[in-house]
Formats: sequence, structure tokens, C-alpha cells
Amino acid sequence: MENNDKHFKRYTVTTALPYANGPVHIGHLAGVYIPADTYVRYLRMKGEEVLFVGGSDEHGVPITIKAEKEGCTPQDIVDRYHNIIKKSFEELGISYDIYSRTSSKTHHETAAAFFKKLYEDGKFIERETEQFFDPERNKFLSDRYIIGTCPKCGNDHAYGDQCEKCGSSMSPDELINPHSALSGAQLVKKATKHWYLPLDQYEEWLRDWIIEGHKEWKPNVYGQVKSWLDNGLQPRAVTRDLDWGVPVPLKEADGKVLYVWFDAPIGYISNTIEHCTEKGTDWKKWWKDEDTKLVHFIGKDNIVFHCIIFPCMLKAYGDYIVPENVPANEFLNLENDKISTSRNWAVWLHEYLEEFPGKQDVLRYVLTANAPETKDNNFTWKDYQDRNNNELLAIFGNFVNRTLVLTHKYFEGKVPAMANLNEKDNAAIEEMNQYPEKIGHLLDTYKFREALSELMNLARLGNRYLTENEPWKQFKTDPERVKTVLAVSLQIVAKLAILSEPFLPFSAKKLQAMIGLNVEGWNQAKETVLLPEGSVIGEVELLFTKVEDETVAAQIKKLEDTKKQNELNAWAPNPIKPNTNIDEFGKMDIRVGTVLECTKVPKADKLLQFLIDDGMNKRTIVSGIAKYYPNPEELVGKQVCFIANFEPRKLKGVTSEGMILSAEDKDGRLVVVTPSQPVAPGSNVG
Ligand code: 2FM
Ligand code: ZN
Repeated sequence: MENNDKHFKRYTVTTALPYANGPVHIGHLAGVYIPADTYVRYLRMKGEEVLFVGGSDEHGVPITIKAEKEGCTPQDIVDRYHNIIKKSFEELGISYDIYSRTSSKTHHETAAAFFKKLYEDGKFIERETEQFFDPERNKFLSDRYIIGTCPKCGNDHAYGDQCEKCGSSMSPDELINPHSALSGAQLVKKATKHWYLPLDQYEEWLRDWIIEGHKEWKPNVYGQVKSWLDNGLQPRAVTRDLDWGVPVPLKEADGKVLYVWFDAPIGYISNTIEHCTEKGTDWKKWWKDEDTKLVHFIGKDNIVFHCIIFPCMLKAYGDYIVPENVPANEFLNLENDKISTSRNWAVWLHEYLEEFPGKQDVLRYVLTANAPETKDNNFTWKDYQDRNNNELLAIFGNFVNRTLVLTHKYFEGKVPAMANLNEKDNAAIEEMNQYPEKIGHLLDTYKFREALSELMNLARLGNRYLTENEPWKQFKTDPERVKTVLAVSLQIVAKLAILSEPFLPFSAKKLQAMIGLNVEGWNQAKETVLLPEGSVIGEVELLFTKVEDETVAAQIKKLEDTKKQNELNAWAPNPIKPNTNIDEFGKMDIRVGTVLECTKVPKADKLLQFLIDDGMNKRTIVSGIAKYYPNPEELVGKQVCFIANFEPRKLKGVTSEGMILSAEDKDGRLVVVTPSQPVAPGSNVG
């Protein structure tokens, strides 16, 4: 069991290191970064000692592929995205103590030393296997660099790890005619040595530690670990034949690097070392003291690495602590479709920040309210708008605003005394005082959605209290009563100003400043009187503003455009015909003509009859494009290209003297080809 009674002295909180081959999107945020930041902000408010560690994962094959495609170095790619990601996290208020990167010197040294120690302690097994080798490039190829024909669907561009046409996962051995994506060369098999971590030797320890010892872990995490263990673990290679990554620190391992999933989690440690070295403090207490609680925030695709492989690495090393919890989340979809970087189906954080300035908290709110904690969840722009307008603004913002405005109106902004409380006031006070504990407990157990919904219940309580007591009606008849009502309401506002901070840090700070509340910590919110009599409320500003229909429509349009673009990208044009030459081409007399008349051919729904000025004469040409030009007269005056020496032929009784050139798109739609600028009729095309 997570030892809830044990008081840990400090917390090391990590977030999955995002790959620096693309920016961060809302799926990452909802699953990992926002819950982690909420948790850390809450811990800090409780006065806990916390280290919040993040960074970019800058190794791995996809980064090298992207570099190859763009004709730049992998370092160029990771520099670009590391900076975008780091900046966008800062702007969203993800409050890291350190956000570094795995291409740093500290990380290379730390990861290499980690490997070396396990190697020297005899924790690895060595194996020689036959792998595909590109004789032209003189290197072993990772699965992504091997292409061949898919045995299932015949796609002759399937990758060694997956066929993207039929979706089957693949091993390079299954491909028919495997060859190199880099050089096109036929591949050969060659022996190569690698180092493996024998995970099977840790099964018993893992069972004891997780299956017996951590039954309180989230069911999705616990279940996945159990099923891995029930299926039996195999030794895992921790090195690769690749030239991008942390070089394996052994003489005999020239040209080999650490497997990205071996070095990346060590990044948490390297970044801690980097941070502590800068500050001149001890890093070991964050990783090697039993009184430190280690918590990893990740998405579900990372569970095996954080619950099995990395813990085995730490255990093999010897004196490291292992995670106390790994609150992994499921996935977030976007407008009912899977988020996909390659299909650009995402809301990108850096774009959001640019398009919605000052609305960081709205995104934090919506993604927490919709967090995929127990199952996959869905983000829609309509829901974003509804949650902003009907919840943040109508419940939270409205309550705060009404209370502060009335305090100014009736009492010149001075907080009245909380005297003459009646039974209902006392009931409201008792209810509001339960929230710090309630929300705190939910945050302690990683139930962020529920915690946020309780925060909103506190705002609802405030609204209800105001509505029931109607101070605006009572002021003339019973101003003393209004003092009490506003005093109670103001305490609810102050409680909200504290308890909302982990979720809505920007708005909370704004509200705290507005009401002149000096926040000392989470437990302070348990006090009934947070704003003493006579303290002054500053100028009232709106915390939230309406999200308009046009804003939402623009975002939906952006996604629709992406969908259209994807459809176009997915279309494969006809294969190119066998080569021709200038002589063959020269036989074709292609000219530009100006359309003088254009009408439908009677009794032929497909045909249009053109009268063309060909520079010398007028000629008639019939073309089968009527379906695509329901108003043929719109073509009159336009210029078209046509084959002037096309054998004349009779179509539905009309003699056609040539052929008009049209382009046919993926749906079979035909559009006439016109010169990009007007030219004299009769001009040659070639
Ligand atoms: O899945 C991913 O995006 C990985 N880059 C996560 C790495 S987490 C940690 F091990 F660094
Ligand atoms: Zn296939």
C-alpha cells in the first residue's frame, strides 16, 4: 500500500520527457503536464519540499528520420523543438524547477556512467544476433529504415516496424524484399553484439513491490503491469547500432549508442544533478533517500518503461529509490478523432498561446475537467467554449465579481465584520470549511478532475448563498444583515483565491492581489476569516471573459482545413507512364485558344461544344466536361489549351476539331487547363 501514514520528507516529481521532434499538444498536457503541475503547486502550498523535473527527450530514431527528411542534423531538429516546448511550458505556467534536455553534457555523462556501473557489476547479459545491414551506407539499420513489401496487403512501401497502409505491426524479417530506405540497397544480415537487461530476473521483486505492495495504484496502471508480469518478462536490449544518442562507454562498442528508452528516464536524474549543481545543493537526497517520495507523471504508452524497465534499472544499480506512484493517464482525442502529430490533428500548445493570449487558465481548466484519468476522453472546441462560458465565467467569475462589486457599492470596498451570524450562515461556513480537506485529499490521490469539480462546488455554494440572501434587495431595509452576508461571501471568495491556485494559477494570483490576500499556504484556507474586518478590496477586474462563437468557429475551420489537406495528401496519383522523348512530344501541336462560345450539346449530358479562336480561324471542339461546368457560359472569354492536330472526329453529330486539355483530380473532377497569364491566341504550348 502507498504508505499514506508515512510522512515523506520531500517529493521528486517527474513528467515524461517529450520527444523533441515536434511541439507539445493538448493530449500531452491533459495526460501529463497539467496534472503534474497541479500536484506540485498543491504540494508547495502545503509547505512540502518538492523538486519538479522535466526536460526534452532528444534521442531516438524518429528524430534522425526527421533530420534526414529535412536535410539537417538531428541536433538542429532537437534545438528547434526543445526551445519551442520549453518556452510554451513556461508560458502555460508549468512550474518546473528544471527543464533540461538529454543532449546535454551532464546527461551524456550521467547516462554513460549509469550504464558503466551496471556493466561492471555484471548486471547485463551479452548477446550476438543477426541484424539487417546496409552495405552501401556501411551501417546497421533500425526497423524504420528498412522498407519492403507488406506480406499482408502487398504495399511495397511498408516499414520494418509497421505497414502504414494496413496498420499491421511488422518485424523486418516479415517484409518481402527488404531494402534500405537510405540507399535503396539490398540488405544483408550481419552479426552484432548488444547488452541486455535480464528483466526476467526481477519478476519476483516486481511482483512483491507492485502487485502486493501497491494495490492502490490506478487500475489502468496496476492492470497493465500485472498483465506484463503474467505474460513473463524477457531480457531487453539496452543498446542500439545507431549514430545518434549516448555512445556506449565500452571500447568494443564503437558505433553503438544507448537505447533511447534506457537513457531517457536517466534524464530525470541528470536534470536533477544539473539543477543541484547550479544551486550548489545535494542531488542525492532526491533519488537516494527512503524519505523521498518519487512520483512519475506519464501517459499510458509509457507505463511499461516507468513501472518495469526503469525501476529494474534503478534496482540493478542498487541505492536508488523507486516510484511510490505512477499516476498514468489514458489518451485525449480531439473532436472524436485520435490526436496525431503526423496528420497534424492536434491543438498545439504554442499556437494556442499565441491565438488565445491570457487564456492559459481556461485551457488548464478545460483539460483538467476533461482529463482522461480513467478512460480515453474527448476535447471539442464547443466543450471548451461551454466550460469557459457556463462554468468558469458563469459560476466562478460571476460569484467573485458579484461579491466584490457589492462590497464596493455598499461599503466602499471595505470588508465588513462577520457578526450576527444566523443558523444558515453557520451552515454555509461549516460547509465551506470542508473544502480544503476535501480537495486536498483528492489531489493527494491524483483525482484531479474530481478535485476541480469540488472547487467549482465551493463557487456554487457562494452563488447559492448570495442568491438566497439577496443582499441587493436587503440593503435599504436591513444594512446590518447585508454586512454579514457580504462578509461571509468574501471569505468564500478568499478561500477560492487560495484553493484555485494549483488549478488556475494565473487567475488565483490576480484574485489574491485584487482582494489583498497574502497567501501563506494551503492550510490557511481552513481558517474561517481570511479577510479581516476593515481590509480593503482593490479595483475589481474580470477574471474570465466570454469565448465567442466566431472564435470557436475559426478553430473548427482550422481543423476542417487540416482534414481536407490530409485527404489530399493521402491521395496517390496514377503511376508515371514509361519514358517518352522530345520527338514523341513534338508530334503534339498544343496551342492556346480563346473561348468565343460554349454551350451544352443537345441530348448529350456529358458534352460541351466550344467555339475557339485559335489565332487564325474559329474552330469547334467538343469536350466531355459538361458535368463540371453547369454554367458553360462562364468559360466564355477564358483561354484554354488544346491539341490542335488531334484527328477530327464526330461526337453526337458535331465534328470536333481538336482536344481541350483538362486536369483530372482524385475524385475524377475535370477542370480545363488555362495559361497563368493571357497570351495571344494560337501561342504554342511546349
Ligand atoms: O513517449 C515519449 O514521448 C517519450 N519521449 C517519453 C520519455 S519519458 C522518460 F523516460 F524520459
Ligand atoms: Zn500492409
